[in-house]
Amino acid sequence: MAVHGVGLLTRLPLCVQRRSRVQRPILRLFSCPGTVAADPRREEQPSGSAETGSEDKTPKKRFSEVQKERREQAQRTVLIHCPNKISEKKFLKYLSQHGPINNHFFYESYGLYAVVEFCQKESVDSLQNGTHTPSMSTEAVIPFRSRYFNLKLKNPSNQASEQSCIQCSNQLPPSSKKVFELLRCAESIDDQLNSLLKEFQLTEENTKLRYLTCSLVEDIAAAYFPDCTVRPFGSSVNTFGKLGCDLDMFLDLDEIGKLSAVKTAGNFLMEFQVKNVPSERIATQKILSVIGECLDHFGPGCVGVQKILNARCPLVRFSHQASGFQCDLTTNNRIALKSSELLYIYGALDSRVRALVFSVRCWARAHSLTSSIPGAWITNFSLTMIVIFFLQRRSPPILPTLDSLKNLAGAEDKCIIEGNNCTFIRDLNRIKPSGNTETLELLLKEFFEYFGNFAFNKNSINIRQGKEQNKPDSSPLYIQNPFETSLNISKNVSQSQLQKFVDLARESAWILQQEGKDRPSASSNQPWGLAALLLPSIANGMALAKKKGKKPANETVKNLLESLKSNSAENSTNTNRKRTTSP
Ligand code: GTP
Ligand code: MG
Repeated sequence: MAVHGVGLLTRLPLCVQRRSRVQRPILRLFSCPGTVAADPRREEQPSGSAETGSEDKTPKKRFSEVQKERREQAQRTVLIHCPNKISEKKFLKYLSQHGPINNHFFYESYGLYAVVEFCQKESVDSLQNGTHTPSMSTEAVIPFRSRYFNLKLKNPSNQASEQSCIQCSNQLPPSSKKVFELLRCAESIDDQLNSLLKEFQLTEENTKLRYLTCSLVEDIAAAYFPDCTVRPFGSSVNTFGKLGCDLDMFLDLDEIGKLSAVKTAGNFLMEFQVKNVPSERIATQKILSVIGECLDHFGPGCVGVQKILNARCPLVRFSHQASGFQCDLTTNNRIALKSSELLYIYGALDSRVRALVFSVRCWARAHSLTSSIPGAWITNFSLTMIVIFFLQRRSPPILPTLDSLKNLAGAEDKCIIEGNNCTFIRDLNRIKPSGNTETLELLLKEFFEYFGNFAFNKNSINIRQGKEQNKPDSSPLYIQNPFETSLNISKNVSQSQLQKFVDLARESAWILQQEGKDRPSASSNQPWGLAALLLPSIANGMALAKKKGKKPANETVKNLLESLKSNSAENSTNTNRKRTTSP
């Protein structure tokens, strides 16, 4: 379900490289479309998600509480396509006729848009009542009463002189250039990881726009299923989403049955007459098929609708033009929602988790280990699992195993989905924080060393037990699905992609080892620390060299790592885990 933007080629001037440094050009690094102006109004953290950088003592909200609050906010919110030149003051005054406004923001995406949250839901009805369906002279329109409006100026020439400068909220990831600048100016590798997180994480506004988009799609689906719910899941809500990530939506029809099941007195039980289909999968396909048609024909702003109904998890994919989100709508996918809740908990337990996951995701993207095209690549979801597993393996562990979260669960947490036990404690405040105090720098280094040496040929990764286990089959990479434990979430990954991951992990471990003893001065333009890891790989360069008859990349990287290891062993006795090695 992961869909990413198209990469941008950015080239920065390189200062004189020092002899001991890896000499590589700074090329395309991320999937970020375009250079983005700094957004002074960006909040550092969407409310309801974990704090970063400091240990927060305020009670943390449950996943369900965040979802409920955000959903309710979204129902009081409207999306308005505005003329490019508009007076913000007049705009707000005009809308206030329908009731007080709680907050608003503007953003650009093929035009100017405003997201306006009213204090009361009734204001939305009032606005809709005062809105008319346009008539076109040359085309016909399908009337649809939604919360997505088009604002027109009655008299554009009169208002032109009164325009104020509208500040737009940024919805795009930062450019490679900006990221490198930020990383270059950081004070330490820990600082770099935290800065990267702050730049890439979803902003408060972007999170609001995601919930609003789900709410707008819910209005459309409600034409067929009046009490349905459309919930965001995946990286939009699990606190691991990067700006620009796709919007995974779950059409929840289960609430319908629950709402109508009011217990009545008497000897009878009333049921709805329903249509039977041979299997749950066919029911899912039929439901998604009609919703797909509906989005395609009547959904304002929904374009490029594709019904991908024969996939393992059937889905409808479309672009929501106004928000710019690539959306994947699924139904009967409750386990994925539970996985999102689990990742939310892991992300909130320790401030280092998200920082490390974001860096590993950016690193993987920079080296094309992840891709927007479905195929044999590792996914962001799998990468997150790998980082969680690594953090469970630290001594003392930074994250608890899923089994221990299950042991902490109370009766109210019990959750069985399609026969799979998905129970774990949902109240974050009842989970004891880790006593581990390792720095992000050390964790990043050890992460690459750990997976550069992991016995992928015989062992699987398993966050339920937090320990390596024998692989049940011959898939190159085996990451146990935490809830459907007989499944491998990385079954698609090929041997060559896994090898690329391992080679890059080894190379990155080696680069970080070099960093420890040779950091450029602040005035130097040279990328260091995390920035050095995001540069195009030396292994890629050597693969090219191999074609030209030079020494093979793997062998070179392996030699580097071997010399690194032998030096590590020599130095480990007197360095208190801080090695200063050279190949
Ligand atoms: P990005 O979209 O890449 O930022 O990350 P994501 O976590 O949202 O991944 P994706 O859009 O691919 O999938 C959305 C959600 O579906 C994930 O967060 C998981 O909860 C779930 N999911 C994805 N792939 C798998 C899989 O192979 N097995 C299972 N059980 N769930 C998956
Ligand atoms: Mg996603």
